[in-house]
Amino acid sequence: MRAMKRIVILISGRGSNMEAILRAAAAEQWPATIAAVISNKADASGLKTAEAAGIAAVAIAHRDYPDRDSFDAALASAIDRFEPDLVVLAGFMRILTPDFVHRYHGRLMNIHPSLLPSFPGLATHQQALDAGVKFHGATVHFVTPQLDHGPIVAQAVVPVHEDDTEELLAARVLAQEHLIYPRAVRDFIEGRLRLDGDRVRRVSSVD
Ligand code: GRF
Repeated sequence: MRAMKRIVILISGRGSNMEAILRAAAAEQWPATIAAVISNKADASGLKTAEAAGIAAVAIAHRDYPDRDSFDAALASAIDRFEPDLVVLAGFMRILTPDFVHRYHGRLMNIHPSLLPSFPGLATHQQALDAGVKFHGATVHFVTPQLDHGPIVAQAVVPVHEDDTEELLAARVLAQEHLIYPRAVRDFIEGRLRLDGDRVRRVSSVD
């Protein structure tokens, strides 16, 4: 019997990626528990979704802290109470301090709505339209102190259509995010990912 792994998910808003992970974990009976969902915004609608699913839902409002260091320290102690094997950033819209990132080295994942290393930062769909790229997508990666950067776990590609708007493109990418993020988290939980410098290697799972 494999030990149950523990996951903490960080959100800032609607949490549709979080929901996709919760749904896959339940439907596919992952050997994992979603121990908590934590938001830096008390009014994040994703917190309600988590609560309704019977998961500990915690708000640590960044506005209550004078600076990034004190917020990240509070966030880390909230996370550590749940003793996670993996911390999943799912639409978590805060830049994290290097101390925080190092604390969770190799067990902190993010999803970014572009094909990294193209278009880090915000408004990625508009960035893609402005650049005139013909393909766009989403990237799951391990987090490093550099924003939207780090060893790539998975990517999904979508076409950019001639008459696309930011909204249409965002929806097309989001549908892919909901597929690749649960799969990537499951791969981690089941021991199929190995960090090798700046790269992620897939290995046969080691039970
Ligand atoms: C997603 O597109 C994610 O990649 C980006 O913000 C969005 C969050 O959506 N960073 P949700 O909260 O998971 O619905």
